[in-house]
Amino acid sequence: MDSDGIIPDKLDEYCQRFQAKVLYAIPTLQNPSVIISSESRRQELVEVIKKHQLLVIEDEAQSSLMANRPTPLVNLIPEQVIHISSCSKSFLKP
Ligand SMILES: Cc1ncc(COP(=O)(O)O)c(C=O)c1O
Repeated sequence: MDSDGIIPDKLDEYCQRFQAKVLYAIPTLQNPSVIISSESRRQELVEVIKKHQLLVIEDEAQSSLMANRPTPLVNLIPEQVIHISSCSKSFLKP
């Protein structure tokens, strides 16, 4: 990761090296770094996800705390993303 979250080139490299099939990702308010991946970074990740036909588990547990959250990966590539969230975080919503 860098300051924009998962590095697409590294993901691509690791997918090739380890024949990865599943990616667990927290693109919004990553825990514990609280990094929020930009829209452009998400688009770059989608290209790698498509290239390797990854199944993505997108954990958006923290995103309910944000008023204007970025586009979740599940909206960008719904056929390859399982979107999970949290019940307890939504109780903290201001
Ligand atoms: C990224 C992430 N996913 C899941 C959870 C679990 O959330 P909950 O206990 O509300 O189910 C947490 C809790 O902090 C979290 O940080």
